[in-house]
Amino acid sequence: MSTAVPKMPLPKHIPDRESIDPTLDLEVEITRLKQERNAIILSHYYQDGEMQDIADFVGDSLGLSQQAKATDADVIAFCGVHFMAETAKILNMGKTVVMPDSDAGCSLADRCPPDVFAEWLEQYPDHVVVSYINTSASIKAMSDIICTSTNAVRVVESIPKDKKIVFCPDRHLGRWVIKQTGRDMVLWPGFCVVHEQFTARKLLKHRRQYPNAELIAHPECEQSVLDMADFIGSTNQLIKHVVETKDVNEFIVATEMGVMHQMRKQRPGVTVIGAEPDSGCECAVCPYMRLNTMEKLYLALRDLKPEIDVPKEIADRAIAPIERMLALG
Ligand code: 13P
Ligand code: SF4
Repeated sequence: MSTAVPKMPLPKHIPDRESIDPTLDLEVEITRLKQERNAIILSHYYQDGEMQDIADFVGDSLGLSQQAKATDADVIAFCGVHFMAETAKILNMGKTVVMPDSDAGCSLADRCPPDVFAEWLEQYPDHVVVSYINTSASIKAMSDIICTSTNAVRVVESIPKDKKIVFCPDRHLGRWVIKQTGRDMVLWPGFCVVHEQFTARKLLKHRRQYPNAELIAHPECEQSVLDMADFIGSTNQLIKHVVETKDVNEFIVATEMGVMHQMRKQRPGVTVIGAEPDSGCECAVCPYMRLNTMEKLYLALRDLKPEIDVPKEIADRAIAPIERMLALG
């Protein structure tokens, strides 16, 4: 009897977790391997607390790209999602870039396929193409300039007023940038599966429950959520806001819950309440970021796998729009 094999893509790399001695002190081993390899560990704020703590640098998408450009390490171990490690590789084609789990994608990047995007773009031949960093290297290669949520307003404001703009792939961030800059932009209809789960209805419930709390939100949230927020910013800006707003002690946080680790660390005693998503779960967790674990980070440094690669012809075209963004800061 033959068994039908479902046509599913196989994982690109299967981390050999069973080869790890369970008594191993992973923190000690990761630190040792990092020195042996002359590696730097970069971590996004959406990673687990212990991964943030072992990193040499923890930051938002912009900070991580700046660190990737500045490093003189031979190996970059990137604890984040695929587009972030790809950006680090484009900035360091001569270096080895590894991720704990190369299947850590991103719903925004995955829902903007290069062939469909290229066809869509044909409708807007005279437009400046601004792409959020949450895109594949191929989309970056078709763009004029990249932005992150920290500098999206600055990037759009740098474009001459007489130029028309296409913005991809996050429609919520795009709409928020339109509001901030007054610029008209054509938006690709993408969204983040984590941030779209916050709803005005659930947040109203939180507001009643915590009447003294400030509501702070990431611009990847829906317009109705952003309309309710007391403060809107990138992950880095949200953390900074909580740390610096000393006259407020309670914050409802509408983004991935990993940021709360830094908020508590940098302002001990502050009350941060993770906004409840409308998904049946109690907390908002990026399923892609959380594929990365300490065990897989150990294996990545031990085996130098999975390695992130970008075809040279794509990297050669993607570097200019990334560098344009980095020059703006
Ligand atoms: P920032 O870290 O740039 O705020 O972006 C958040 C995010 O969703 C990363 O994928
Ligand atoms: Fe992508 Fe959303 Fe996860 Fe960020 S939180 S990596 S935008 S899926």
